[in-house]
Amino acid sequence: MFNSCASESNMQSIDDRLNSLLSKMTLEEKIGQMNQYSSFWDVTGPAPKEGSAAVQFEQLKNGLVGSMLNVHGVENVRKLQQIAVEETRLGIPLIFGFDVIHGFKTISPIPLAEAASWDLEAIELSAKNAALEASAAGINWTFAPMVDISRDARWGRVMEGAGEDPYLGSKIAFARVKGFQGDDLSAPTTIAACAKHFAGYGFPEAGKEYNSVDIGTQTLHNMVMPPFKATIEAGVRTFMNSFSQLNGVPATGSQYLQRTLLKDQWNFDGFVVSDWGSIEEMVEHGYAKDAKQAAQIAVEAGSDMDMQSLAYVDHLTDLVKSGVVQEALIDDAVRRILRVKFELGLFDDPYKYCNIEREKATIGHEKFQEATLEMAKKSIVLLKNKNQLLPLKKKGLNIALIGDLADDKTSPLGNWILAAEKNSAVSVLEGMKTYEGNNLEFSVGVKLNTGALEFAKELNINTTDKSDFPAAIKLAKKSDVVVMVLGEHGFHSGEGRSRTQLGLPGLQQELLEQVFKVNQNIILVLNNGRPLVLDWADQYIPAIVEAWQLGSQSGNAIAQVLYGDYNPSGKLPMSFPKSLGQVPIYYNYKSTGRPTLPSTDEVFWSHYQDEQNAPLYTFGYGLSYTTFAYSNLKINSQTDTTIDVSVEVTNTGNVQGKEVVQLYIKDHFARPTQPIKSLKGFELIDLNPNQTKTVHFTLTETQLGFYDNDGNFTVQPGDFSIYVGGDSTTKLNTKFKL
Ligand code: BGC
Repeated sequence: MFNSCASESNMQSIDDRLNSLLSKMTLEEKIGQMNQYSSFWDVTGPAPKEGSAAVQFEQLKNGLVGSMLNVHGVENVRKLQQIAVEETRLGIPLIFGFDVIHGFKTISPIPLAEAASWDLEAIELSAKNAALEASAAGINWTFAPMVDISRDARWGRVMEGAGEDPYLGSKIAFARVKGFQGDDLSAPTTIAACAKHFAGYGFPEAGKEYNSVDIGTQTLHNMVMPPFKATIEAGVRTFMNSFSQLNGVPATGSQYLQRTLLKDQWNFDGFVVSDWGSIEEMVEHGYAKDAKQAAQIAVEAGSDMDMQSLAYVDHLTDLVKSGVVQEALIDDAVRRILRVKFELGLFDDPYKYCNIEREKATIGHEKFQEATLEMAKKSIVLLKNKNQLLPLKKKGLNIALIGDLADDKTSPLGNWILAAEKNSAVSVLEGMKTYEGNNLEFSVGVKLNTGALEFAKELNINTTDKSDFPAAIKLAKKSDVVVMVLGEHGFHSGEGRSRTQLGLPGLQQELLEQVFKVNQNIILVLNNGRPLVLDWADQYIPAIVEAWQLGSQSGNAIAQVLYGDYNPSGKLPMSFPKSLGQVPIYYNYKSTGRPTLPSTDEVFWSHYQDEQNAPLYTFGYGLSYTTFAYSNLKINSQTDTTIDVSVEVTNTGNVQGKEVVQLYIKDHFARPTQPIKSLKGFELIDLNPNQTKTVHFTLTETQLGFYDNDGNFTVQPGDFSIYVGGDSTTKLNTKFKL
């Protein structure tokens, strides 16, 4: 049985219980709550006897650890919780964190792919299912959602976010937090969410992982912050700071971010966890002279829990006892951490996530597979479909399926697959085989990687071995249609996976061009975790399907789209550059003083000599097997605070289809200046052939205002345009004055 404080009545208010507990804690025990370790030994094996694991084990037994990460499975979690609850003086339960980023055991599409669905209900459900599955395995806290806006496809972590736009990003951030946390955090099926990485991590210079971030106040307040704020509105209980420095201050040591903005202005009463080792990394940043000073800076800045750098457990006691750090700061941090533990109900039942029967009945349940299949289909974006090569006929075709990724059952799972089984995704080959009316033959074409593929290790991309080319070319030659599955392995994107080239990695481009020489009827199915440069493919390949990394049901989802059993409706959440040199490229840029081609042939306007300004595929872009027409955009009514806009959308094709109707505004004159267009509303509608729907949007002041350079929200009167359409280049517009 668990001891006294864990069994205290839950009838008392959390505050009373918190205060009473805090008053019993020694300084060391308080600091222990601020200490988080990654799983440091095989819990089901013998207790560690030597080295750092033995030290950490002793600390755990002495109540000097508040949280663990990377431990999962009821048996493991229960064993550790038992030590915390039954062997430590006060019996304070641990909180167990895990990167439940896109699913747990059942894997959903990577977050960037889910964002392409623009389907908030589906995204919320995906997070809810992930919480259901993870909580059955002992987890009660996820390090998600990552809500970092990014415009730079070189940065590998764009796969984990919702793309480049703060409005879409905010809606998705809200939905994900709701999905994870539900309406009742104390239910055994919901888990605490964590908004990360606070803040600016998505803007590393040159797209290089962990690089410095140097952005102005406009970008900070209007691009980076909105999704974080949305998570606060959704009631997120934790934040994670970031590895990077923002304008010269490591985020982990930033009082402005963590205290002024987050805790004071936004009234956040949950806790902030550091990123892995980021407290001590302030020494490498050149911001703290040693780990001890780093601990001081971090705690003063408002980093409440130290993930894995040991700086708090090693130095905070000294810092407080010598009067350098105020104990009140420790109390504040501990109060926040304990509050979340109380809210999760861990003090009432520390083993509430440790039900072995529930674990058995839940993990990998069929209903998660069904839901992830739906999510995967919704995430697919049709980029090109010349001469309606797609959908494929179901009978009588000889189809060549080419590409290493086509029969890969691990890569489609994507990057964050810590609890998933390797080789567990449905491959494209398997998915296509379920359609038996055609003659399908597979040829690998070219091996994508050589050597082992691991989450934490550098990949070796095959750049020399073309021995599989001839067989694939021969197969393509005799086939009616070629489906080529090319792109990035799941481990090509993610943390530590920045790239300077954004084409198809390795020898895949060469293979594509060789196959094209013998058969031009190619459907290119892309697997990737970031926008790629696809200029050649766009010029020559008739059909291109963006299929990201779609998770456990990937191959089934792709096959259903290729055969037209599902009509794709995804829209890009990030612009796809035409050339690498355009990066960072995004639709909501600001006008220059010389935005347009002058009438003469002079060079003095904002452009490139060797490339157009526009991306290859813009934000919000995506095709369908049907077509949509927009008409009758009008402002129906305007009050001081709201504007009601409507537009008619008609399905002008032959099949039923879904369309993401997007509304953008342009604020013609503002100080500071505003982007040339900003997304301010969208709606996903379903239309039968020839059906028309009137879609209404209500714009409020919040949507028309912005943050000035002092971080104050302002709404400025003046001339606005409203644009409505199926992507961010839409021309259909109307005007109003505010
Ligand atoms: C990542 C975080 C993640 C943490 C724990 C870090 O390397 O930046 O996003 O949650 O590890 O795994």
